[in-house]
Amino acid sequence: MRDKVAIITGSSRGIGKATAIALGDAGCIVILNGRSESRLKEAVSDLLSLGIRAEGIAGDLSDPQVAEALVEEVVNRHGRLDILVNNAGLSMRGRFDELDPEVFTEILNANVINAMNMARFALPHLQPSEGSLVFVSSVVGLRALPMTSVYSAAKMALTGLAEALRMENKKQGVHIGVVYVGYTQNAPDKTTMNAQGELVLLKPREGGVADSPEGVARLILSNIQKRKFKSVHSLPGKLNSVMNRFFPSLVETALYAIYKRKPELFE
Ligand SMILES: NC(=O)c1ccc[n+]([C@@H]2O[C@H](COP(=O)([O-])OP(=O)(O)OC[C@H]3O[C@@H](n4cnc5c(N)ncnc54)[C@H](OP(=O)(O)O)[C@@H]3O)[C@@H](O)[C@H]2O)c1
Repeated sequence: MRDKVAIITGSSRGIGKATAIALGDAGCIVILNGRSESRLKEAVSDLLSLGIRAEGIAGDLSDPQVAEALVEEVVNRHGRLDILVNNAGLSMRGRFDELDPEVFTEILNANVINAMNMARFALPHLQPSEGSLVFVSSVVGLRALPMTSVYSAAKMALTGLAEALRMENKKQGVHIGVVYVGYTQNAPDKTTMNAQGELVLLKPREGGVADSPEGVARLILSNIQKRKFKSVHSLPGKLNSVMNRFFPSLVETALYAIYKRKPELFE
């Protein structure tokens, strides 16, 4: 992957930052992105200190003009674009009948519309380079969970988008991938959206069954290197995917039993 040019959206912390490090270690020039300039600067300097060729371009991807400017700036600087990892996203918690409708638009924008805009601006450059366009989804994009209805719907929408883009771009040789991420340790300042549409801190997930962001990054790297379509993260994620395909009623019965007895597990 020597000298390939890669944009990773939402890479000032968490899975995005770990992915930028993995791609940088594999020889790519990595362009990091996030809204907070200070957090982005810190992340870029961490990567530079590891000897990675990293650059930061701050900007809020909910503005399509910002998304377009990000792609164009990278192509102007480097003359090409080989990889786009659509990683930036936002989760939510809450029963559907208690959600403020603002949650619908915020979550669909953060996970789907922003990724669509980035794909729209990047594809004309990924076609000549026969590059990779990867969407970071979630295991709830394979099988929804209670209390995450809108987030599950948004991550499932990425599968539909990727399936269509894969066929439309086969002749041009563009790799389209989707990575379904399972339970992962959070950055301490990671937020989720509550039913009222407010950003609240997520409870820390240390150790146990939660994988590290570096573990997820390895899977994203392997998805790109092997030009795979769908990659499912973690053993519980893989089990969920297989069981849900062959025994969907059983999975629903089991999940409902857990939800009824321990709803706090889904909060
Ligand atoms: N962690 C998990 O357990 C898990 C599980 C399944 C799927 N995922 C998915 O994996 C991806 C990364 O998750 P994560 O846990 O690493 O998230 P995170 O810690 O919340 O990091 C999100 C990153 O995206 C940036 N960002 C958010 N909105 C943005 C916007 N509108 N424009 C530009 N940058 C934006 C944030 O920086 P600023 O705030 O400074 O903009 C930050 O760098 C997401 O798509 C998430 O849905 C995560």
